[in-house]
Amino acid sequence: MKYNDINFNNKTILITGGAGFIGSNIAFYLQNNYPKSHIVVFDCFRNSKILSNGNPSSYGHYKNLIGFKGEIICGDLTNKSDLEALNNYKFDFIFHQAAISDTRVYDQEIIMRTNVNSFYDLIEIANKNQAPLVYASSAATYGNSASPQTLGAEKPENPYGYSKLIMDQIASKYTKMNPKMTIVGLRFFNVYGPGEFYKEKTASMVIQLGHQIMNNTSPRLFENSDSIYRDFIFIEDVVQANIKACKPKNSGTYNIGTGESRSFQDIVNILQNELNTSLKIKYFKNPFDGYQTDTKADIASSKSGLNFMPNFTLEKGIKTYIPEIKRLYGQKIT
Ligand SMILES: NC(=O)c1ccc[n+]([C@@H]2O[C@H](COP(=O)([O-])OP(=O)(O)OC[C@H]3O[C@@H](n4cnc5c(N)ncnc54)[C@H](O)[C@@H]3O)[C@@H](O)[C@H]2O)c1
Repeated sequence: MKYNDINFNNKTILITGGAGFIGSNIAFYLQNNYPKSHIVVFDCFRNSKILSNGNPSSYGHYKNLIGFKGEIICGDLTNKSDLEALNNYKFDFIFHQAAISDTRVYDQEIIMRTNVNSFYDLIEIANKNQAPLVYASSAATYGNSASPQTLGAEKPENPYGYSKLIMDQIASKYTKMNPKMTIVGLRFFNVYGPGEFYKEKTASMVIQLGHQIMNNTSPRLFENSDSIYRDFIFIEDVVQANIKACKPKNSGTYNIGTGESRSFQDIVNILQNELNTSLKIKYFKNPFDGYQTDTKADIASSKSGLNFMPNFTLEKGIKTYIPEIKRLYGQKIT
């Protein structure tokens, strides 16, 4: 499916974080729809580095890229000499997805170094190549600000959300200084779908609850989950947004969600319906401070500025995802 009139065939496209969830989906979308595109993935892949919260520092996984025919550069965003490898290309488009994506990392230095410092380098590469730069921001920039979340109401509750807000501010400053540059930040809300399995505990609750249910164990939810709302967006809609962001009306920051808020209880109900189960839910106390309790993207400006139109309700997204949830059940992450 083509989302706009850009012909990516014969174009050279950089995808940072291309071994991760969203990046690998963009890579396959381009490969399948524009077989003559020249795609370069830059990712540090998963290694043995563990962060202070006990989670891996990167979730890129080769299994996300099996079947990918483009080029792969294994490199670290925070390492200038690794980034030099990108000087060998003339990029037409850049999708910058690489980041510490774990919202529960409280080591502020590593978050800021990885997500923010490297962003200056990516902007320089985009400027030098005169390539539109589409980068991943996040709904975490809003923290617990009132729903629906609208640009201008940012109040991050963790270092990750803060790092993304700073990226948005840097992008805005650069486009004011260089009006010819196209830089678009996409504030993804809660993304779910194929490709997220290797994010383990940081993958969406859709796959985690799906596997609990397939295991015939009680799905585990925080107390009051029927009144914890999120804007859950299916990966195909996120790919759509990235492609459309290559040709925006204006550079800027855009919310990428469905514009609907749904509860975690809804996820369990839809999954149980799809998987033909009626397991009793086990509720437990939410241990997290600063937990977002009601997110819903205001997507008016994304519709008008990017022509973004989400196609997947939570029901449709989960139904589409079920075969992959089943395929991955019981698989080990090696
Ligand atoms: N998935 C979501 O719900 C969501 C929501 C909001 C924003 N985002 C943002 O979208 C982007 C993609 O997220 P994702 O869900 O695909 O996460 P992901 O962790 O699967 O992908 C991030 C990729 O970046 C790579 N990476 C991390 N540190 C790196 C470094 N120093 N050098 C090179 N590569 C590095 C990882 O190996 C991984 O492949 C991220 O910027 C994330 O912050 C995601």
